[in-house]
Amino acid sequence: MPYVSPHRENLPMNLDPHISLPITALSSPTLQSLEQHQPIPQHQLPPSLELQHQQQINQQQRQQQLQLEQQQLQYARGVDESQGLLHKSTTSKGKYSLKDFQILRTLGTGSFGRVHLVRSVHNGRFYAMKALRKSQVVKMKQVEHTNDERKMLKLVDLAFVIRMWGTFQDCKTVFMIMDYIEGGELFSLLRKSSKFPNPVAKFYAAEVCLALEYLHNHNIIYRDLKPENILLDKNGHIKLTDFGFAKEVPDVTYTLCGTPDYIAPEVVATKPYNKSVDWWSFGILIFEMLTGFTPFFDSNPMKTYENILQAQVTYPDYLGSDVVDLLQKLITKDLSNRLGNLQNGTDDVKQHEWFDEVIWDRLHNRDIETPYEPPIQSGCGDTSQFDRYPEAELDYGIEGVDDPYDNLFEEF
Ligand SMILES: Nc1ncnc2c1ncn2[C@@H]1O[C@H](COP(=O)(O)OP(=O)(O)O)[C@@H](O)[C@H]1O
Ligand SMILES: [Mg+2]
Repeated sequence: MPYVSPHRENLPMNLDPHISLPITALSSPTLQSLEQHQPIPQHQLPPSLELQHQQQINQQQRQQQLQLEQQQLQYARGVDESQGLLHKSTTSKGKYSLKDFQILRTLGTGSFGRVHLVRSVHNGRFYAMKALRKSQVVKMKQVEHTNDERKMLKLVDLAFVIRMWGTFQDCKTVFMIMDYIEGGELFSLLRKSSKFPNPVAKFYAAEVCLALEYLHNHNIIYRDLKPENILLDKNGHIKLTDFGFAKEVPDVTYTLCGTPDYIAPEVVATKPYNKSVDWWSFGILIFEMLTGFTPFFDSNPMKTYENILQAQVTYPDYLGSDVVDLLQKLITKDLSNRLGNLQNGTDDVKQHEWFDEVIWDRLHNRDIETPYEPPIQSGCGDTSQFDRYPEAELDYGIEGVDDPYDNLFEEF
């Protein structure tokens, strides 16, 4: 029985290529026992993605609704579409402050801080507030990544990517306000279900593929693809969150970052890399969704890296030949053969046989029924899909204290 890895933290360090990889990169489990949870009831799974006749939605109404939402969003963000993504203003200073939110419970914790469920005192709606301790960020050499996270989140605008509304800071912490995504992590659903049936894995993979396509079209590499960073909205569509390693990279970069199980060999080998790394992780994600484990896992991360560098994957017999073909073309060391990284970019991935049934336009419009609807009450701050984390005493909003990092997070 292959070992199922616990909730994985990403590599906290921006390491010099000459410094050896940290042994402690894989953290201890933070999830509650998942035995308590039930797997997805089979009747909620669609037989395939060919759902032409299943949708009862009136196309015209839906189109109007989408247009309206788009206009509202653009208005709210002050975006002029004609100028394109990279000309958007990335600053929003002074828009929000801690006083605008009531802090409720913790949704997730990370190396630099935590994500809280908060409620706006103005409109009563729920949001997620990511709070990062400046001292931790500095200690872990993540200042540039944190500023990039804010910048990238401010730029992106896609249904499959988390929407950020604004940022602010006090003397100890930087804050990001995002939509609250109620359905929890894909990670939790995967662990509850052990593994996903082929059509379910395909559905999530296809939505993730559109998110990667969008980011790559805008020269953004994501660099931390894994089920922990994929949330499910109330209808069961994906939202990519955690842009802590996302970066605008027109050419190549070298930084060692990611999460051990998911890191591409060119990153481990500290070679220059680009979007290729996201396609490798995309392969690992599909593999994990279909099998319940990652192909290179070892309890010793150094061994994981060795396994990655060898890139020898054993495909269980129950995987179909079409998906094995796709995975072999994604989880390959050979960058000149890795699907997604070739001349036709994402199109090669979308046109692969495994995705044959996917109607990409409809998927893009979120007009395909989702395989699983999280059992939540929408709009009321339902947190039933999130694990419990011990609450900590918070020292947010303290005034009149010196901030030694004052000049490091000026855009927040
Ligand atoms: N917008 C959000 N809505 C709901 N939960 C969220 C949201 N953003 C993050 N979370 C939860 O908090 C966890 C940690 O957030 P993340 O941005 O991934 O931080 P880290 O960089 O520490 O991994 C996520 O895995 C998820 O469970
Ligand atoms: Mg994360």
